[in-house]
Amino acid sequence: MTNVLFLSPGYPPEMPQFVAGLGTVGARVMGIGDQPRTALHPQAQKHLTDYLQVHDLWNEAQTVSVVKHWAQAVRIDRVECLWEPGMYLAARIREALGVPGMTVADTVPFRDKEVMKQRLDAVGIRTPRHDRAKTAAEVRAAAERIGYPLIVKPIAGAGSADTHRVDDAKQLEEAIRATSHVPEVSVEEFIDGEEFTFDTVCAGGKILYWNVSWYRPRPLVQRQLQWVSPQTIALRDPEQKDLAGGVEMGRKVLQALNFRDGFTHMEWYRKADGEAVFGEIGGRAPGARSTDIMNWACDFDVWQAWAEATIHGRIGQRWERRYNAGNIFKRAHGEGRIQRIEGLERIQREFGEHIVDVALLPVGAQRRNWKQTLISDGCIVVRHPHLGTLTEILDRIGTDVQMYAG
Ligand SMILES: Nc1ncnc2c1ncn2[C@@H]1O[C@H](COP(=O)(O)OP(=O)(O)OP(=O)(O)O)[C@@H](O)[C@H]1O
Ligand SMILES: [Mg+2]
Repeated sequence: MTNVLFLSPGYPPEMPQFVAGLGTVGARVMGIGDQPRTALHPQAQKHLTDYLQVHDLWNEAQTVSVVKHWAQAVRIDRVECLWEPGMYLAARIREALGVPGMTVADTVPFRDKEVMKQRLDAVGIRTPRHDRAKTAAEVRAAAERIGYPLIVKPIAGAGSADTHRVDDAKQLEEAIRATSHVPEVSVEEFIDGEEFTFDTVCAGGKILYWNVSWYRPRPLVQRQLQWVSPQTIALRDPEQKDLAGGVEMGRKVLQALNFRDGFTHMEWYRKADGEAVFGEIGGRAPGARSTDIMNWACDFDVWQAWAEATIHGRIGQRWERRYNAGNIFKRAHGEGRIQRIEGLERIQREFGEHIVDVALLPVGAQRRNWKQTLISDGCIVVRHPHLGTLTEILDRIGTDVQMYAG
């Protein structure tokens, strides 16, 4: 029996599914987090053999010491975390307990966007020209070297927060002001193109499952324009020729960073001339319901597949890519509580057989902050074997389904 310590089993919303996956494949799951056990999703509660609530999970020294104490009574074989901010914490706990898996040094190239790109440059992978900067003067010097247009973003960013496109010296000053609270930034050549992911589940350094998703429009635009209904589509045919550059890059990136076990989530750009350019990589699953669409695309359970790969080094479930599966996120008009949702019945009548999930906020619910969560005011999931038909349906949902708050 493998005993797994799972960090933050209650949040983000996919975590209970990963916990359930571990329980289902026969692991004993011990959770640690800052929510009370009763506040966890029932699925997490059901599959946790034990749970420790700490006052502040992110107080590293304290959490490590609490876990060390716990480990005197129960053997801990693995430490798992699928949430970006907890990657270092998981690594520190592994080191403190002498448990196998990613160390702090292994984690750095997955969290520090400069180290990440330097490692990849060293093996000839195409990254945007880049530099790191701590002060305004360093940002200006980096901009001088890299040239416009460029991107200024946090070294350890997530959710496109504090990410700015800069076209000239005036905008550079604005970006410097806007990121003054960020301790260190990455300054990068701006890459114009489409954005895709390359996601994997690995064991022993081998890719056991992989996926390519397509972002429509690119995340930077999703974050800037509230009226946009962002889409993420898990593609049925990730082996098509015009994705090959990114997929091949993805495989090389995993090798270069010596990734062995678990979930990875890489983002890459495809320029108009077809060139694939590296974006970023996380040593964890993607968020914002991106694992759900992997399941809808293949009719399988990727959470359990991850768990099986992690515990047993293989994936026993059979999976086949049958559909393109897309999430479309909606943002209400106005502020406050959701008052009404328009256009949904008609869309259901027209495309109902392809709509597999409607998870919009109900009338009466408080609107979410669309800048803070891609999930925004909820989403609709659609799947279809034909990509063109799927994007047509998603675009219709984008224009015809409208939510109003007040
Ligand atoms: N060099 C670049 N060229 C063009 N666009 C970029 C560049 N860097 C970042 N962006 C845009 O900003 C978005 C966010 O950047 P990035 O993915 O590096 O940060 P993040 O905040 O970690 O992302 P996530 O939203 O995936 O957590 C990208 O998806 C892309 O749209
Ligand atoms: Mg990103």
